Amino acid sequence: MKKLTKLIAVIAAAAFTLTAFVSCGKKGNGNTIKFGTNAEFPPFEFISANGVIEQFDGIDMAIAKQIADDYKMGVKIENIEFDSLLIALQNGQLDAVIAGMTVTEERKLSVDFSIPYYTATQVIIVKEGSPIKSAADLDGKLTSVVQGYTGETCVSELGYKYESFKKGTECIMELVNGKCDAVVIDSATAQKYISDNPGLVIIEDNNVFAHEEYAIAVKKGNTVLLNKINASITKMLSEGKIAELGDKYCGN
Ligand code: ARG
Repeated sequence: MKKLTKLIAVIAAAAFTLTAFVSCGKKGNGNTIKFGTNAEFPPFEFISANGVIEQFDGIDMAIAKQIADDYKMGVKIENIEFDSLLIALQNGQLDAVIAGMTVTEERKLSVDFSIPYYTATQVIIVKEGSPIKSAADLDGKLTSVVQGYTGETCVSELGYKYESFKKGTECIMELVNGKCDAVVIDSATAQKYISDNPGLVIIEDNNVFAHEEYAIAVKKGNTVLLNKINASITKMLSEGKIAELGDKYCGN
C-alpha cells in the first residue's frame, strides 16, 4: 500500500513537471515577444480591419508573427512614435523593434541589428510636371520629411531646406496642398502614397540616394533573441517568403 502511494506521488510529480514544462511553450506565459513598431509606414506596417497581429498589418507584421510562430511564442505589438522606438528598446519596454528600420552606423551604437531582410532606397515624390528631376533640383526648394527617418538625415546632409512632420501622410498632404515642393521618403512607402494620390510621381536618384537595408533591432547584447530572429529571417529569405510578402503587400 505504501509503495503504491509513493508510486502515485512520483507519477503526480512527474506529470506536474511535464505540465509546467509544456505550458512554458504556450502563448502569453511570459513567453511572448513584444515588438515595437510605428504603424504609419505602409506596406511594412499599417492599421487595418484584418491585420496579421490584431489590427496591425503589413510585411513587418507578417515577419514578426512568423518569428514568434517559429518558436511557439506569443507576439505583441506596441505602436509608438518612430523616434521613441530605440529608446523604448534600450529601456527594456520592448524586446525588439520591427519598423522598416534602416541599419545606420549611428543606430548601431545603441542597439544590435539582425541580418537585413529588405533593401530600399530614398526617393523623391513630386507633383506631376514638377521641375524637380533629380536630388540636386531640391536646392532652393522646400522638402517635407518625417522626423527621425533616414530621409530627414539625407536631406539635411545634402544641406537643402526641409520641414519635418510626424507622419508620412502629413508630408503628402503638404505636397498635395502646394505647401512644399517635394517629399523624400523610402521607396516602397512612396509607391503606396502615389498609388493612393493621383497626380504624384516618384523621382529616383541612385547617384545621391544609397541603398538602405531594413533589419530588426534588439537590445545590445540580447544574443539569445537575436539568434532566434536571425535563424527565422534566414529561413524566410531562403524559402522566398519575404519576396512573397512583398508581392502580397506591394501588389507587384
Ligand atoms: N527606413 C526609414 C528609417 O529607418 C524609415 C522607417 C520608418 N518606419 C516606420 N515604421 N514608421 O529611418
